[in-house]
Amino acid sequence: MESIRILGTGSYLPSNVLTNFDLQNMGLDTTDEWIVQRTGVSERRIADPDMATSDLGYHASRNALEMAGMTAKDIDLIIVATITPDTCCPSAANWLQAKLEAPQAVTFDVTAACSGFIFGLNVAEQYLKNKTFQTVLVVAAEVMSRTLDWKDRRTCILWGDGAGAAVLTLGNEGHEILSTHVHTDGANGEDLLMPGGGSKTTPISHESVDKGLHHLNMIEANLSFRIAVRRFMESIKEAAEFNNIDVEDINWFIPHQANIRMFQNISKSLKIPFERFYLTLQKYGNISSASCAITLDEAVRDGSIKPKDLICLPVFGGGLTWGSALIRW
Ligand code: UT7
Repeated sequence: MESIRILGTGSYLPSNVLTNFDLQNMGLDTTDEWIVQRTGVSERRIADPDMATSDLGYHASRNALEMAGMTAKDIDLIIVATITPDTCCPSAANWLQAKLEAPQAVTFDVTAACSGFIFGLNVAEQYLKNKTFQTVLVVAAEVMSRTLDWKDRRTCILWGDGAGAAVLTLGNEGHEILSTHVHTDGANGEDLLMPGGGSKTTPISHESVDKGLHHLNMIEANLSFRIAVRRFMESIKEAAEFNNIDVEDINWFIPHQANIRMFQNISKSLKIPFERFYLTLQKYGNISSASCAITLDEAVRDGSIKPKDLICLPVFGGGLTWGSALIRW
């Protein structure tokens, strides 16, 4: 029976590495020990100044297309999940379309913060099921480093830059997406936000810049942590129940890479062996929408994921947004 299939995955990380020690040397009031203990992050990647989100997305897309044995000319729809588009208008997906030289593809962005890749997969799934499009490129790309206040130790230690991508189709060949689930809670989205730049605070002014409104801000980090753990667990259970399987049947958990302690908690609460969480946050930090797309690609390329493995991608992000994908590789 035809179902939604992944034909290829790809990722791209900028080569510039920023370690916790570098942050200390920049005069930030922090230590490597604190960051590693409280988050699990040791280093992150930072995009070169001349690279925008669509440039990172371009390299990830090329890698995904190569794995799929396709060219950009085979793509009908390009969806980019991002909260750091090159420009508000045109979309990052439009810039990417031009760089990939895929004028036949329809393009748009999806904004769902750290859950963006799964929201992108979910949208792609609808178009493929009703046969509006045949081949969809879902890209998640972020240049988070440009949104950070490098003097704010609560936030700037967490995030990094990068991109991941997947080529999807409806068919019998490839890796089967068994389900996607997405959720939002707009009433509680004030905790993790970038207040400036939108219609609420434009035009951008000296005042809005001086007040730091254009930086990513976290009001109640502890509260976010607790909500994230709850939503991750709900999402894992929802995926298992929907597919009539037990959580213990899932071979790999590739979550949004927010904080290692979240997955230690979830491992205990849901009795999931911690080794089943595939994490890249140690070396890349939190790359918002791109985190789980990049991590999926790494787990595929290093051979950790074997044919027929069941993979769950639970996500949580600002907005609030959360959800999951379950894939039979
Ligand atoms: O991607 C979306 C999902 N991600 C999230 O929602 C983020 C969730 N939150 C978290 O991951 C954690 O709450 C953080 C990693 C952000 C913070 O860790 P925490 O253990 O919750 O720290 P805290 O905010 O409770 O701060 C504890 C102390 C404070 O000092 P006092 O007030 O106790 O003296 C902070 O000022 O640690 C201090 N602190 C730091 N110290 C050294 C905060 N950041 C740092 C730092 N280095 N970088």
